[in-house]
Amino acid sequence: LLCCFSMCLAEVYVLDDSIGLGRTFDGIGGLSGGGATSRLLVNYQEPYRSQILDYLFKPNFGASLHILKVEIGGDAQTTDGTEPSHMHDENDENFFRGYEWWLMKEAKKRNPNITLIGLPWAFPGWIGHGTNRPYTFPDVTAKYVVSWVIGAKQHHDLDIDYIGIWNEKQFDAKYIKVLRGMLDRVGLVNVGIIAADGNWDISKALLLDPYLSDAVEVIGVHYPGTTTVPEALLTGKRLWSSEDYSTFNNDIGAGCWARILNQNYVSGMMTSTISWNLIASYYEDLSFGRDGLMTAEEPWSGNYVVEAPIWITAHTTQFAQPGWKYLSTVRHLAQGGSYVALTDGKGNLTVIIETMTHNHSQCIRPPLPPYSVSPQTATFQLKGSFVSAALTELQQWHSKFDFETKKDVLFKHTDPIKVQDGYFTLKLGVDEVYTITTVFSGQKGHYPDPPISAPFPKKYFDDFDVRNPPFSEAPYFADQTGVFEYFTNLTDPGPHVFTFRQVISQRPVTWAEDANQTVSVIGDHSWQNLTVACDIYIETVNGGIFLAVRVDQGGESVRKAMGVFYWVFGNGTYKVTNDIGEYFLFDLFINIPSLIFSVFKQGDHAFGMLNNYPLWKNVVVHQPKNGWAAIGTHSFEFAQFDNFLVNAD
Ligand code: GAL
Repeated sequence: LLCCFSMCLAEVYVLDDSIGLGRTFDGIGGLSGGGATSRLLVNYQEPYRSQILDYLFKPNFGASLHILKVEIGGDAQTTDGTEPSHMHDENDENFFRGYEWWLMKEAKKRNPNITLIGLPWAFPGWIGHGTNRPYTFPDVTAKYVVSWVIGAKQHHDLDIDYIGIWNEKQFDAKYIKVLRGMLDRVGLVNVGIIAADGNWDISKALLLDPYLSDAVEVIGVHYPGTTTVPEALLTGKRLWSSEDYSTFNNDIGAGCWARILNQNYVSGMMTSTISWNLIASYYEDLSFGRDGLMTAEEPWSGNYVVEAPIWITAHTTQFAQPGWKYLSTVRHLAQGGSYVALTDGKGNLTVIIETMTHNHSQCIRPPLPPYSVSPQTATFQLKGSFVSAALTELQQWHSKFDFETKKDVLFKHTDPIKVQDGYFTLKLGVDEVYTITTVFSGQKGHYPDPPISAPFPKKYFDDFDVRNPPFSEAPYFADQTGVFEYFTNLTDPGPHVFTFRQVISQRPVTWAEDANQTVSVIGDHSWQNLTVACDIYIETVNGGIFLAVRVDQGGESVRKAMGVFYWVFGNGTYKVTNDIGEYFLFDLFINIPSLIFSVFKQGDHAFGMLNNYPLWKNVVVHQPKNGWAAIGTHSFEFAQFDNFLVNAD
């Protein structure tokens, strides 16, 4: 860089494919689950649901993702809810629960080349054999995971490309080898193992154990802060940031995403980055609200928001495909920021430049060391096969976050940039992204604005009378411990043939701290005064169920949920507590005659009824002041619910 009289001549960056290429690009992805992050998406009406899916997966439209990673449901809380397992117990197998199968099919429909990955966070209880770990019988766990891969193919014609170990928990070398062996034995030789979805420690283990190294195809690390470690490079394995981002999806979140998409390769040699999460489709008051590439948290209104990270993703995904190679000449820019360049080896070249400033690109973790970025002029020199008389201009796409005027430019196709004598020059401001490319197919997809945002309906009723439900869960119920499914109760003579049933009867091998009770929340977290009524059926002699209002938390803090919980037990007693943990009693015990009840709550004085008889009243509720409605059970036990009604003021 030449500077005189405070004027600096442009730095020259070389784009050369004749001096050896860098690593192969494996794609940019989104993560559904870990957990229940797509829960509300399935309940969107058409055409909105398809529009959202297009923004995520359709090539040359929006984020045009290359990779979809999903949670292999384990019946347990994994951040924003539970996702159902395909094997609630040892003799059970069902590949039609939850929504990840559906999501994978929708993604494939739009992009048949999309890479699919499955990773467990939690496991059903029987996998633990009395422990809270999945490794007691490695072959049992491997069989469980392999059955998920086989089921994906058999029932949904989905080819899973990669499988992971145990999200952000200890890996077990023996288990990894057993899993590899079992995949091979059943002919799934093309299913790669990613390990270990945690820190870089697996690298050392791979260097020490050649058999383990043979079993692992990709080192997947989480939130690496764009850097790697020498041991990881020594393994010679592909390195991925297999979970990253998790940042509120405003402009700073978009800045985080732009910076790590480039710098995970420039600084860390990572050839894939996967966003937690794919789409923020869970109640915003659960853990890590809106940490998705876009937001779709209002199926009742149809409103969704195509947030800036979608367009940041497009800057890479629409112009470079998995299998392309990075050039070896990628770098940080002289005045801050970075560029990557990729080629398909057939003459195409894509350069992505980002100049994100420190304060406008902080991710949720890890802390970002200080650095500075200032406006700069950057000249790029084409060399190698890119030197061609015919190449006189390149396509140009531009984004800029203007934190002062708040007028953002997002993924704008601007005038082509002139190439002169093999050089092109850009004046770079701060907080910008540019894509400069030979590729013409980029497009900023667009649908008419969705309906305007609206709160959850104040009156809501579900009789669960659905003969062939498209999904196993009823709309808007968000399970926070346990799993609630549509159920056909063939022994019921009357009006309760179709019910909603809690089906987990044993504590799972947990990932987070699930409650000892099961609970599914619904509605609007700002609700204060409301009435909830529901028919209930306690299936176990020592069992009990609750209805609750003002439930203030779920997700990873579900054990601490406060609210007004009205419990009825199989032994004929009832109680009212201020918490899900059943420590803080509001009221006394009395006998009850029947198993159908209603709970009503008004103002700060709660009262409850059973079969239309007032049972308790004038319970003064000091806190919480607001929260969701909820249903649940006293323990991991079967129980049914019907005719659920909410009436909020
Ligand atoms: C990760 C975890 C995700 C989610 C995320 C929130 O560590 O794997 O499931 O909890 O953190 O930042």
